[in-house]
Amino acid sequence: MKGLVVYHTKFGNCRKIAESLARGLEEAGLEVTLIDTSTHKVAPEYDFLSAGAGTRMGRVTGSMKRFIERDIKGDAWAGREFLAFGTGTRAEGKGSKYDDWSVRGAERIYEALDERGLKPVAGAAKFYVQELKGPSKRARRSAPIRWGSRRARPS
Ligand SMILES: Cc1cc2nc3c(=O)[nH]c(=O)nc-3n(C[C@H](O)[C@H](O)[C@H](O)COP(=O)(O)O)c2cc1C
Repeated sequence: MKGLVVYHTKFGNCRKIAESLARGLEEAGLEVTLIDTSTHKVAPEYDFLSAGAGTRMGRVTGSMKRFIERDIKGDAWAGREFLAFGTGTRAEGKGSKYDDWSVRGAERIYEALDERGLKPVAGAAKFYVQELKGPSKRARRSAPIRWGSRRARPS
């Protein structure tokens, strides 16, 4: 089973998560390709897709949005399994719009892939960073590795 892990990062947190996740998927038996969103023309030759990026004002980063629109077109990937993940700052719990925006990028990715007919193997995974740049404690530890190997279902 072939898996693709694609990420967009500005400060490096999503890259660390993507690398750990790729390791977890490999431990679960997948053959994994790891790319960032600047890689063009990805063919739907994978059984499994994992995509992750940061959050910008309650949305996914523009680079990941463009990647999905460009490379996950129509129903070409329909039926493949996916895992969406993302980073962002932790909500402060004051009931403002910022609470609602907390790590929404992960959910936006989930929604976009779901709309294209891919099948989620888990809910959107949220990784919190400190301030804007991080770091993310979970990204540094083995959480994404375990998450990947637990969620993957190699055939
Ligand atoms: C202009 C800007 C807007 C942001 N808006 C949000 C937001 O709405 N929600 C959130 O959780 N994080 C927000 N963040 C924090 C980023 O999501 C965080 O910097 C990013 O996830 C870190 O991941 P990276 O290291 O992979 O780039 C914002 C950051 C910037 C620079």
